[in-house]
Formats: sequence, C-alpha cells, structure tokens
Amino acid sequence: MGGAILSGLRAAGVADLRVTTRTATRALEPADGLRVLVAEQDSDANRTAVRGARLVVIAVKPAGVTALLTEIADTLEPGAVVVSVAAGIPIATMAAALPAGTAVLRAMPNTPSAVGAGVTGIAAAPGTAPEDAAAVVAAFRTVGTVVELAEDRIDSLSAVSGSGPAYLYLFLERFTDAARRLGFSAEEADALVVGTAQGALRLLAETGDEPAELRRRVTSPKGTTERAVAVFEQRDLGGIFDEALAAAIARAAELAAG
Ligand SMILES: NC(=O)c1ccc[n+]([C@@H]2O[C@H](COP(=O)([O-])OP(=O)(O)OC[C@H]3O[C@@H](n4cnc5c(N)ncnc54)[C@H](OP(=O)(O)O)[C@@H]3O)[C@@H](O)[C@H]2O)c1
Repeated sequence: MGGAILSGLRAAGVADLRVTTRTATRALEPADGLRVLVAEQDSDANRTAVRGARLVVIAVKPAGVTALLTEIADTLEPGAVVVSVAAGIPIATMAAALPAGTAVLRAMPNTPSAVGAGVTGIAAAPGTAPEDAAAVVAAFRTVGTVVELAEDRIDSLSAVSGSGPAYLYLFLERFTDAARRLGFSAEEADALVVGTAQGALRLLAETGDEPAELRRRVTSPKGTTERAVAVFEQRDLGGIFDEALAAAIARAAELAAG
C-alpha cells in the first residue's frame, strides 16, 4: 500500500520523497527526488526519513504502528503531519505515542490506488488544522478519489471501499466458474466475464447514468435477463451485502480491541 501511494506522489511530481522499508529485499530503487533507506541496514533510517518532513505516511502492518511512532517521535519536525493507513489503529492510540499537538490522521485507501484509481477515506481528529487535513487529502488524491469523514465512520468505509475490491473479484470468480459450468473454456469464460465487467463499468463511467438505469436497459420485460435478476433478488442480494458489511465492521472492532 505504501508503494502505491509513493507511485501516486511520484507521478504527481512531488519532490523530496524519502521511503523506508525494514528489509533490503523490499527496498525500492533510488531515483531523482526519492531517497531510499533500509531499517535493517541503518538503525537510524526511519528517523532520517522523517527529519524535516512536512508529511509522514505510516504504512506498516497495524501491529507495528505504535513502535514505529515511538521510534520517530523525537525526530518529527514541529508542525509535521502524520497519517497512517493501518487498519484498526485509532487516532488516539497514535497521538499517545507522539509529541503533544502533532496532527494525526487516518487514511483508509484501497488496492486500486496502485493504478491511480483508488478510493480513500480520510479521518482527522476534531480540531485538526484545515491546512494539515488538506495536505493529507492532496497526497491521497494523487492515487484516486478521497472521501473525508469522522473517525467513527472509518470502519464502515473500510467495509465498503477498503474491502470492496475483494467482493467484486469474488463476484467475478463465481460468475466465471458458472460460465465454465456452461461449457466455456477457462479462456472463453474469462474473456466473457471480465470483458463484460470492464465494458459495463466503462459504460457506467462514460454515460454517467445510474447503475439501476443501465440495468433497466438490459432487462426487457418478461425477457431472459429479468429471469436471471429475479434469482439474485430471491436470494436477497441486498441482505447478503448487509450481512457481509456487518461482519467486516465487527472484525474491525475485534482488531481494535486487540
Ligand atoms: N492492502 C490493502 O488493501 C490495504 C488497504 C488499506 C490499508 N492497508 C494497510 O496498509 C498497511 C500495510 O499493508 P501492506 O499490505 O502494504 O503490508 P506490507 O506489504 O507488509 O508492507 C509494509 C511495509 O512496511 C515496511 N516496514 C515494516 N516495518 C517497518 C519498520 N519498522 N520500518 C520501516 N519499514 C517497515 C515493510 O518492509 P519489509 O517488507 O522489508 O519488512 C513493508 O515494505 C497495513 O497497516 C494495512 O492495514 C492495506
């Protein structure tokens, strides 16, 4: 996820970037305007990276966040803004590891950020200076669209857009399996299903019409599509979504409780 954000920042021409990884195997190639540091080779790598930085992005696994913040706390520039993408780590937990008054925000991006088509939710603590929140929003706009929200909504957003790519891929997997059971080869089923999904989403983007309207146009009264759609609705697709999103939100609460 850190790599996706970095690609967006670089593509947007942001200069003077520093990035650290723990191991040399994950390290990126240094480039103009990009300094690469490796924590296992240089115990000061993370502190060097944040020295003088206006914006610090934390993209380690949730379990590593507090230790990393404690490590960099003394080196942060006064006025630095810290944003973490780690799921389930509250702003208050992060703020407790940092000097008083540090601006701390949470961001919840999703994997299409890697191709500049992400959706990121951003939550700031009440009282965050507008220019600090704006700096974080601008950084994440380099990898897609941004929705600003209160922190108590971030688990709900995560259940929708954070995990959402997985739901859509699952739908495509099951759809492809069904096409294969109708006798299409794996290649044919992929071409039919993935091609249809890409085309349908492009039609949605290019017409600007609502999904319900585009669905209505495919669904002639008493036709074949109508019969197929009725099967999904009889199985209560809306109810399945409610249950799935509730399960994701419940798991986020479990993770936050440790
Ligand atoms: N994947 C998603 O869809 C998604 C969406 C939203 C949020 N997130 C959040 O993004 C975070 C990262 O997830 P990921 O899947 O990108 O994990 P990942 O592939 O393991 O990336 C974590 C990176 O942090 C580096 N790192 C770990 N500890 C470090 C330390 N002490 N100092 C310097 N670098 C360190 C790791 O380096 P090494 O590999 O060398 O150890 C690795 O490059 C998680 O907190 C997750 O909750 C992920």
